Amino acid sequence: MRGEQRMNRSVAPARTHDVSRDRRDDAPPSRDAGRRPMGLATVGPQTLDLYGTALRSVGEPGERRQWFARYEHGPRRSLASELGRWCDGADETDRDLLARAGGTVLDAGCGPGRLVAELAGQGRMALGVDTSRAAVTIARDLGATAVRRSIFDPVPAEGSWDTVLLADGNIGIGGDPVALLTRCRELVAVTGRVLAELDPPGTGIRAGRVRLERGTQRGTWFPWAHVGIDAVAEPARAAGLRVQATWERGGRCFASLVPLGDDPSVDARLELAS
Ligand SMILES: C[S@@+](CC[C@H](N)C(=O)[O-])C[C@H]1O[C@@H](n2cnc3c(N)ncnc32)[C@H](O)[C@@H]1O
Repeated sequence: MRGEQRMNRSVAPARTHDVSRDRRDDAPPSRDAGRRPMGLATVGPQTLDLYGTALRSVGEPGERRQWFARYEHGPRRSLASELGRWCDGADETDRDLLARAGGTVLDAGCGPGRLVAELAGQGRMALGVDTSRAAVTIARDLGATAVRRSIFDPVPAEGSWDTVLLADGNIGIGGDPVALLTRCRELVAVTGRVLAELDPPGTGIRAGRVRLERGTQRGTWFPWAHVGIDAVAEPARAAGLRVQATWERGGRCFASLVPLGDDPSVDARLELAS
C-alpha cells in the first residue's frame, strides 16, 4: 500500500486513569482526545460524520457499494463487504471467535455492535466501547451494552476484563498497534487475553492515514494500521503480551495474546504446560 510508513515501534508511556474523571456513558470524547489515537469516528462539530452516515445507510439497496476507504497517497478500497459484516448479525466465524472469548468481554471499537449484541443474547457479560455516536446508538438498539468513548479513556473494570476484543482489524485503531496493545494489556486481567483480528500473512506492519469516501463526499483523515498475522509477535511483546495462538477461519486471521509474566521463566513454564 503506497503512502504507508513502517511503524514507529516505540511503546507509548503508560497512562494512569483517575476513575473520578470518568464521564457519562453518552458524553463525547474528552477535549484532549485529539492528542490520543482516534479512529473512524469523527466527532468535532466541523466534521462530517461520514461513518455514522455509512452505518445508517447500509439497509438501502445498492448503498454499501458506494462507500470506499481511501488510503492517503494510495488506492481506495471498497467497504461494501466490511459494511455488510459490521451491520449484519454475527456469523459463524464471529461465533467461533466469541466461543474463544472467555468470561467478561470488552469489545474495543464495537461499531454497531453485532458482537456485543450476540454475547448479550447468549447471556454473557459484555461491554462495547466506541467513539461513534451512531455506532453506539445502533449497538444499544440491538440490545448491547455500549458506551461512547475512546478506548484510551477510562472504562469500567479496568484491569479485570477476561477478554478484550479487537475484531474487524481494530488493532489498527489509532495507527499505533504498540500503543493500542499496551492499553489493552492495562484493561485485561493477568489471566485474561486480547483476541485480535489481523491481516493475512505477508502484510507486515503498516500505518498511514485513511478517510471514508462516498461520491464527492470526503471524511476526515484518521490514523489506521494493518498488522499481519505473522507480524503480531513483536508489537505484542513490546506491549507486554505474547502470542498464545493464531488461527484462520472464514478467510479471516486471528491471534490470542496473553500477558507476559513478570518472571519470564514462569511464562516459559506456562507455555510448556499448555
Ligand atoms: C473497523 S470498525 C470496527 C467495526 C466493529 N468491530 C463492528 O463489529 O462493527 C472500527 C471501529 O472503531 C471505532 N474507533 C475508532 N477509534 C476508536 C477509539 N479510539 N476508541 C474506541 N473506538 C474507536 C470506530 O468508531 C469504528 O466503529
